[in-house]
Amino acid sequence: MVFPPIREDLRGLTPYGAPQLPLDRVPVQLNVNENPYGPSPECVADIARSVAGAAASLNRYPDREFTELRTALAAYLSRDTAAGVGSEQVWAANGSNEVMLQILQAFGGPGRVALSFAPTYSMYPEYARDAMTEWVVGHRAEDFSLDLDRARALVEERRPSVVLLPSPNNPTGTTLPPAAVSLLCEAAGDGLVVVDEAYGEFRRGGTPSALELLPRHRNLVVTRTMSKAFALAGARLGYLAADPAICDAIRVVRLPYHLSAVTQATALAALRHAPELLSRVDDLRAERDATVAWLREKGFTVADTDANFALFGRFPDRHAVWQALVGRGVLIREVGPEGWLRVSIGTAAEMAAFRQALDDVMEEAA
Ligand SMILES: Cc1ncc(COP(=O)(O)O)c(C=O)c1O
Repeated sequence: MVFPPIREDLRGLTPYGAPQLPLDRVPVQLNVNENPYGPSPECVADIARSVAGAAASLNRYPDREFTELRTALAAYLSRDTAAGVGSEQVWAANGSNEVMLQILQAFGGPGRVALSFAPTYSMYPEYARDAMTEWVVGHRAEDFSLDLDRARALVEERRPSVVLLPSPNNPTGTTLPPAAVSLLCEAAGDGLVVVDEAYGEFRRGGTPSALELLPRHRNLVVTRTMSKAFALAGARLGYLAADPAICDAIRVVRLPYHLSAVTQATALAALRHAPELLSRVDDLRAERDATVAWLREKGFTVADTDANFALFGRFPDRHAVWQALVGRGVLIREVGPEGWLRVSIGTAAEMAAFRQALDDVMEEAA
């Protein structure tokens, strides 16, 4: 008898998680695609007031339907689509991680398939595993775009209940054109197509959000998060927009009162400060484009990116480079296909420290 009596398919597995190293030892942390800019004192004060208001009634369960928050999120999303988004089309949970797990719990399950295209976000197979769903993975082209004929053929062959399509993709930064999303929504038939727009706000001008396609495809789900552009990773708030029937189905699997009163109060206050919290997106985009240009000048291969990170390579021993950067106080991420590394975009000073450290490491290795 093995102790503890964990499910056989989980035996020996290690929990997911990027290294969290102490800031005093590794001061430049560019590894989990956070927004490097914290909220202003005014925003902090508003969040504190809002949370204090919620604290006075913490003896009561929170609004299970988070009605006010759903309305505020719908108003925020409506900026990205001419058709607008109604509050009945919005669902939220503790991070988009939880939103996607709930999607797999409601729409996956034994005998059903979830599908994505690698390289992609490494949590997807974990949601599938945890929801007892078969995981099928297709592959992206050499430049990390989707070969649409092959993607459609795989969807038609495996008939997944859920297709997970991040746009921009993590760890490559690649976006999906709306025509590709439409084509895969049609190919998926009754299956759901989840366009994960965790990094949606960072996309370059002229790249529309998949939100615009919602009126055309009942099986389309667009997920977002407040963790990235919104600079609120610590609050844990992710959400989706979809047909109201999809939100109703998710209600069946959600835990009662899953969004605490404190989370709801924090997110509502942050949404009131949306223009401020999002104001650094343009700076981060500019810093990203400058980082990509610099890396290319230095002779690295860099994936085209619409996100707040860049995947670059290729290193014969990427772990050695990652480790040497840590030794110089710069933490990036060893993720994606063998030979590549991913750097999140930080402040101008952090990116200068990254460039200096990488220059030093490459010089030493030469
Ligand atoms: C593509 C993608 N989707 C979803 C998430 C989950 O973010 P959160 O749970 O903080 O909303 C991440 C986090 O890094 C991500 O990279």
